[in-house]
Amino acid sequence: MADYVTPGFHHVTMVAKDARRTLTFYRDLLGFPLVKQTVNFDLPSSYHLYFGDEQGRPGTILTFFEWPHAGRGAWGVGGVHHVALAVADEAQQLKWKRRLTDAGVPVTGPYDRTWFTSIYFADPDGQILEIATEGPGFAIDEPIEALGRELIQPKPHRLVGGRDEAAIRALTHPEPVPAIDDVMRLRGIHHVTGFTDDLQAADEFYQRTLGLRLVKRSVNQDDPDTLHYFWANYDGSRVLPGSDMTLFGWPADARRAREGAGQTHHVAFRARDEEQLTGWREHLLAQGIEVSPIKDRNYFKSLYFRSPDGLLHEIATDPPGFAVDEDSAHLGATLKLPDWLEPRREEIASALRPLD
Ligand SMILES: [Fe+2]
Ligand SMILES: [Fe+2]
Repeated sequence: MADYVTPGFHHVTMVAKDARRTLTFYRDLLGFPLVKQTVNFDLPSSYHLYFGDEQGRPGTILTFFEWPHAGRGAWGVGGVHHVALAVADEAQQLKWKRRLTDAGVPVTGPYDRTWFTSIYFADPDGQILEIATEGPGFAIDEPIEALGRELIQPKPHRLVGGRDEAAIRALTHPEPVPAIDDVMRLRGIHHVTGFTDDLQAADEFYQRTLGLRLVKRSVNQDDPDTLHYFWANYDGSRVLPGSDMTLFGWPADARRAREGAGQTHHVAFRARDEEQLTGWREHLLAQGIEVSPIKDRNYFKSLYFRSPDGLLHEIATDPPGFAVDEDSAHLGATLKLPDWLEPRREEIASALRPLD
């Protein structure tokens, strides 16, 4: 059992209508290198783009299926509300607010979320993104050895209605921010927040299947009647960055998520290697969870299953990574296909619009 504790997120996959527009936004505006351009292995007529840090390390990876004809998705139960990306501190966060605002992307916040500070915006498809500070962390209002035991009520000045919204709106970096330096650079997935209509079932699921632990019980500061639970890789003395899955608890008759553009398709967690992934599969099956066979995604091996709310999850291996089929200094430079699609390269490539 102790072996089946994921260290955190491997990647998040979202749906976009236009790969070129997505490239411009994530690479040029947010500064994530494109680490792989390939196609959806299950639907090779469309792009699958991978962004991440320079090497595309697990935990930094954001991937996009291009579905040109997709309708607009909608968040709800069984879906993701937003994906949060980590930034060093509030000063760097304000630079992002300035950079995005200057580029015509509306930004809200910074909001003091007690355990981190957050700004929010949307990508061109409407996917909600957050940039969250790494600190101060979950031990700011509970002892580190007793996280998640008490329901924490946020301070009134942090709640909607009690905040100085005009002052928050006015906060920004004083100068334009045309370039992204290393201090400012986004550091990967901070947390992912979705919706459940059964917090108790979700709690059991994240603890038993993924080995994550409940590290905070609170309410949504923007909607204080809604409970907000946080799970993470936590051993009683520290919370691993890049492992925090959070859910808003909605009533049982709440609206369901709808797949489509601007929505998260699935959330992947890490496994050490293929041998461990095989063990994960047995571990999930033993709990009565329906699990896909192990699939070869070329850059990792994967299996898929759903949360009780229907959110698609994946467990993906760290190895072999993105340098398996191209030089690590030139990741993402050309269209890469897995061996079994290589014979169809001409047909596949001619159906795709060039990215640059
Ligand atoms: Fe995936
Ligand atoms: Fe968030």
